Amino acid sequence: MKIALFDTKSYDKAHFDEANKEYGYEIVYYDPSLNRDTAILAKGADVVCPFVNCTVDKDVIDILKREGVRLIAMRSAGFNNVDYRYALSVGIPVVRVPAYSPHAVAEHSFAMLLALVRKLTHAYVRTREFNFSLSGLVGIDLYGKTMGIIGTGKIGRCAIDIAKGFGMRILAYDPYPSAIDGVEFTDLDTLLRQSDVVSLYCPLTSENRHLINAKTIDDMKDTAYLINTSRGALIDSEALLEALKERKLGGAALDVYEEEAGIFYTDQSDEGIADDTLARLISMPNVLITSHQGYLTREALSAISETTLSNVREFEEGKELTNQVK
Ligand code: NAI
Repeated sequence: MKIALFDTKSYDKAHFDEANKEYGYEIVYYDPSLNRDTAILAKGADVVCPFVNCTVDKDVIDILKREGVRLIAMRSAGFNNVDYRYALSVGIPVVRVPAYSPHAVAEHSFAMLLALVRKLTHAYVRTREFNFSLSGLVGIDLYGKTMGIIGTGKIGRCAIDIAKGFGMRILAYDPYPSAIDGVEFTDLDTLLRQSDVVSLYCPLTSENRHLINAKTIDDMKDTAYLINTSRGALIDSEALLEALKERKLGGAALDVYEEEAGIFYTDQSDEGIADDTLARLISMPNVLITSHQGYLTREALSAISETTLSNVREFEEGKELTNQVK
């Protein structure tokens, strides 16, 4: 089997090379993201392996089909960037890695939350310049605060366990709730009104784009913190920026951004960025942005490469595809 892996970074290659010792596949690593211009690179490959910001729409799938690709093996949990129904209709199944380390993402959301509420990024910059003054660094306790968890799947549940450790009251909203000890399931409106922290752990679907918008931000406390480690388009970024400017929110920590494709995972330190909304968000003192790195732990990268290659092996052997997107 020949696998064309797109949007490759050094850490992807290291982990895939290690996992591939057991499989012996021919893996060709490409730096560019998969899109209409680069899809031709997959010529002669049996499998393409895209990542979260690749474009796998009808046009790309048509090119892949023409060039002989037989399987799309996403190396991510999310698959909002793939037209999997169309792919299947032309005979190309899509598989993914549904769970590699939900802990990695949940822990990152709390790392960001703590950094935000305890102003760690400001403190770090100050002490590096030997400025040991504490003015402006007053934070809040998480203990006793209300944590609003939107989406109680694998990552949401890890986050719930962490929040319990902090002694937080936990509210949750999920269209498919199932009872969890110590968690009060409620409607979205109540969750937004009562939570001191609102954190998103749901997939991006055609129904929930801009779930957090001017109206829903209005429902939140003016002091509330918004955390997003799921998908950028769950939040209307312009509305978020306006709310922050008008001090209608305590702050925001974003590991994902709706227009992140082409920006995140690249070094733009020489040129700066053309996206004014993102630039303005980054400049806010109560905003913390990371470049979609919630998944980036050794454990998660190993699990991603191992599951991806095992997905390919199931396909090669004509077995039922355990992790097919349907
Ligand atoms: P999961 O499938 O285990 O759980 C998702 C939960 O969200 C389910 O319980 C589902 O019922 C619920 N849900 C669906 N629509 C909803 C809505 N409109 N409102 C509230 N809840 C809703 O997924 P998992 O593994 O927990 O991952 C969640 C998301 O995290 C992924 O879809 C992906 O977008 C994102 N993710 C981000 C990563 C990062 O590096 N920042 C890495 C991995 C995943």
